[in-house]
Amino acid sequence: MRSGGLLTTNLIRMKKYKIIYADPAWKYNDKQNTPKLGGAVKHYQTMTIKELCNLPVKCLTEDNAVLFIWTTSPLLEETFAVIKAWGFKYKSSFVWDKIKHNMGHYNSVRHELLLICTKGSCTPEIKKLFDSVVSIERTEHSKKPKYFADLIDTIYPSGNRIELFARDVKQGWDVWGNEAEGSVNLEQYRSHYA
Ligand SMILES: C[S@@+](CC[C@H](N)C(=O)[O-])C[C@H]1O[C@@H](n2cnc3c(N)ncnc32)[C@H](O)[C@@H]1O
Repeated sequence: MRSGGLLTTNLIRMKKYKIIYADPAWKYNDKQNTPKLGGAVKHYQTMTIKELCNLPVKCLTEDNAVLFIWTTSPLLEETFAVIKAWGFKYKSSFVWDKIKHNMGHYNSVRHELLLICTKGSCTPEIKKLFDSVVSIERTEHSKKPKYFADLIDTIYPSGNRIELFARDVKQGWDVWGNEAEGSVNLEQYRSHYA
């Protein structure tokens, strides 16, 4: 009875996911990324590329899986290191046109990128192809429109799904993040597979 309970607990902890949706807490190394100028550090704890690469995402993904990862133009190059470290290959992208601009160093920025990456074979489950450019006015700092999680649910209706760096709980999704209620414990995956 007791060992059955432990086994069940262990299986729940080691749940694998087919769909990973991540909005990393990217650390920016420019002078605008200060609390005073409204950079990410004003709003939440951030992580270096090395720290992000080191997350045990590989341990929680199924052999055939898809990763949707948010990034911004200045961090695009570094994002590929994270994608690779997590065991995925870049395939395509969505552009979120945020309507309102933010000041950049080279242009006036009003978009973010949602990169689609796969591991093994994980093509969309439905035939309909959605427009790659989505215009929705941005709201609070770093908050992503619900549209995108819904879109992922539509394209990939089956399989376990987890949102990394989540803030809100979404129906049908597990979550990980230091601001998310009921966060999955990623360190348990690391120690299990170490
Ligand atoms: C870019 S925000 C996510 C925004 C979210 N997608 C939304 O639409 O509201 C990044 C989140 O990752 C969290 N975070 C930062 N460092 C973390 C860490 N080491 N472990 C877990 N969560 C972390 C931040 O607190 C923040 O909630």
